[in-house]
Amino acid sequence: MRPPTPLPFLPLLLLLLLLPSPPAAAAGGADGWEAIGAAAAAGGGRRRVASPEGQEAAAAGFYHRSQEMNTVDGDPRWCCTYLLDPSDALFIDVGQAFIRQQMKEYGDITNIYNCDTFNENTPPTNEPAYISSLGSAIYEAMSRGNKDAVWLMQGWLFYSDAAFWKEPQMKALLHSVPTGKMIVLDLFADVKPIWQMSSQFYGVPYIWCMLHNFGGNIEMYGILDSIASGPIDARTSHNSTMVGVGMCMEGIEHNPVVYELMSEMAFRSQKVEVEDWLKIYSYRRYGQSNVEVEKAWGILYHTIYNCTDGIADHNKDYIVEFPDISPNSFSSDVSKRKAISEVKKHRRFVLSEVSASLPHPHLWYSTKEAIKALELFLNAGNDLSKTSDDNFLLGPWLEDAKSLARTENERKQYEWNARTQVTMWYDNTKTEQSKLHDYANKFWSGLLKSYYLPRASKYFSRLTKGLQENQSFQLEEWRKDWIAYSNEWQSGKELYAVKATGDALAISSSLFKKYFS
Ligand SMILES: *[C@@H]1O[C@H](CO)[C@@H](O)[C@H](O)[C@H]1NC(C)=O
Ligand SMILES: *[C@@H]1O[C@H](CO)[C@@H](O)[C@H](O)[C@H]1NC(C)=O
Ligand SMILES: *[C@@H]1O[C@H](CO)[C@@H](O)[C@H](O)[C@H]1NC(C)=O
Repeated sequence: MRPPTPLPFLPLLLLLLLLPSPPAAAAGGADGWEAIGAAAAAGGGRRRVASPEGQEAAAAGFYHRSQEMNTVDGDPRWCCTYLLDPSDALFIDVGQAFIRQQMKEYGDITNIYNCDTFNENTPPTNEPAYISSLGSAIYEAMSRGNKDAVWLMQGWLFYSDAAFWKEPQMKALLHSVPTGKMIVLDLFADVKPIWQMSSQFYGVPYIWCMLHNFGGNIEMYGILDSIASGPIDARTSHNSTMVGVGMCMEGIEHNPVVYELMSEMAFRSQKVEVEDWLKIYSYRRYGQSNVEVEKAWGILYHTIYNCTDGIADHNKDYIVEFPDISPNSFSSDVSKRKAISEVKKHRRFVLSEVSASLPHPHLWYSTKEAIKALELFLNAGNDLSKTSDDNFLLGPWLEDAKSLARTENERKQYEWNARTQVTMWYDNTKTEQSKLHDYANKFWSGLLKSYYLPRASKYFSRLTKGLQENQSFQLEEWRKDWIAYSNEWQSGKELYAVKATGDALAISSSLFKKYFS
């Protein structure tokens, strides 16, 4: 069974506010990138080795390959990153040369260097002295390349690998650099702030970040209260070392209310009264005040925009992330869920998780409601193609990717990449799908009808057939079937609309009439 919470990748975009602007640093002369590679490959004893085999052997002591968790069969073509060993004396030479070369290539544009050696990658030992020596080697390399270097590090590791990063390990890493020369991003502070449980990162400056979104999934989600007060609490707390606010979402162009509020927080010194703020927001958004609209925002504020269930904004809806399990394995979970839905019978859904082993959506509907929804989905037909907004189309995503290509081969490759990224990712076998399948799922017109719908139809045909023939579900056969189908879709070339043509009001009214009245 899949891990309950897949881990996020490096955030795509980071906005840093309130930081002092970096002073100019002297440009350094640099060796070429090839020289850096050669130095790295020459390995620990500063030997120059001529043959590639020799280089490989000499380098063996100088790096190790990280263990990657998100791989099916560990194919080294796309997994298991090489890590230079920071305890080797040559590490500093290589790091310095790297930074000098970067300056040569891009100019003297920054003093801030991002480095995440241990992001989703556990150090070989939890010995604080060792961790501290690694940290100082990294900083040493940076500061030799640029004397004003500041190390910017994501604090995600302290959350995702909390079992490893206890107080002694955290202190060892955070204090391995002179005070003020490291800034930590409290990456997921909107949901799991680390500053509180680490005495303000043990005195190290940090930036309060909202992560909010994983994989660029599209679902209504947010915790407005936490954004409206979190950065202020952090800033005004005792011994605060908070120096800024940031956003590090894995995708944007969804939930604009969340991003609007968060952007304002950089300029506010007091908590925001969300109820009042939403009235102003809705006025700005729609160009006039309207009592009914304000009421609607009130409802959203207390429900979907108060998602305090602790589940990340990672869409586990069964339409876009199919449960890769046999229905026979559901039974105990289903009974738990049933108990909850019995308790809250009068409500359409509950905003809480009830099972540890299944993918977690934010809203649990009763089994009856879920079955009805799946049925509607399978029968929705052309309703799935109705669109009124270009931001919800597959077409532009694919066309943008293709337009970057300079050759026919690149065009093919980029389209495949774009299709693979929003569906199964890669690294699958015939019967085992990628561990990251559906990580970047999207409720997009185009994808719904051409990918999600056939997948769901295949699944339910198999289920129905099994029930009719009194056969247990053939999980392996199903996997073979749909993995092959995914691979085929990923290599497809069919075109999708790049412009939405429908009218939002007309579509919503017709859907409302059809499904709710
Ligand atoms: C603030 O720092 C002082 C001095 O290090 C310490 O004694 C005190 O406990 C800290 N206060 C809080 C609330 O952490
Ligand atoms: C959000 O949920 C929390 C916990 O369930 C609750 O304490 C709080 O009052 C809610 N806030 C809003 C705005 O509904
Ligand atoms: C279905 O199969 C099960 C076990 O394989 C058996 O106990 C049951 O009697 C069968 N039901 C029917 C209607 O054939």
